[in-house]
Amino acid sequence: MSQIRNIVILTGAGISAESGIDTFRSAGGLWEQHRVEDVATPEAFSRDPDLVLRFYDMRRAAIQEKVPNAAHRALAELDAQWNGNLLIVTQNVDDLHERGGARRVLHMHGEHLKAWCTSCDIRSHWRGTLIDRPCCPVCQARTLRPDVVWFGEMPYRMGEIHAALREADLFVSIGTSGAVYPAAGLVRTARELGLQTLELNLERSQGSNWFHETRLGPATEVVPDWVAEVLGG
Ligand code: OAD
Repeated sequence: MSQIRNIVILTGAGISAESGIDTFRSAGGLWEQHRVEDVATPEAFSRDPDLVLRFYDMRRAAIQEKVPNAAHRALAELDAQWNGNLLIVTQNVDDLHERGGARRVLHMHGEHLKAWCTSCDIRSHWRGTLIDRPCCPVCQARTLRPDVVWFGEMPYRMGEIHAALREADLFVSIGTSGAVYPAAGLVRTARELGLQTLELNLERSQGSNWFHETRLGPATEVVPDWVAEVLGG
């Protein structure tokens, strides 16, 4: 690891699983309980806004009850101690990286704890519900939606993510199935740029063959072990 200076880490639902937040595609996962087309597309929101807002209100309330686990805390420790560049790109809309203590976090799929006003385009911190159509704190319009990227919408800050990859030596993917693009394609970009690539996951992801190395196990074990190795070496 001594030649590693700059690191990009991609995280997915698997890193929050042991905090009690359902993943999307495992047995009994969120997309078995709800159809994506009903709750996670712009079309669903225009067709049945109450259903969509209620779904996200429940999720927003639920994540506030959860606490970060040893994997979030280990990445926060790495963030605090790593002198080179480090970017934790998360697909997760929970705030467990931040509550675990990490600072250099980029939410490419948005955040449950923000509401986006489609009138004034401002995003505001949000802990309560949206089903009751509250006013935007900035422009007072009743046009707030969850600040979560839906299927068919462009993930956030892709330019920054690619810029970080161009500067990086190591790409690490944690707890993601590799089923959703463009996040799933980042490992391929990393390989084309000549980065080392490492996967930490409970099982092999769909893009597993793109990684130089895969370590299988629960995030609360494999992530702290890897961080200790990086900081120790
Ligand atoms: P998935 O549910 O697709 O995949 C979760 C991955 O985590 C799987 O590969 C599991 O094997 C792994 N996993 C489960 N428990 C784990 C544990 N304790 N430790 C380590 N790994 C574990 O979730 P994502 O890949 O994050 O997008 O899904 C990507 C996107 O699809 C999400 O951001 C969301 C979803 O639709 C949007 O909503 C836009």
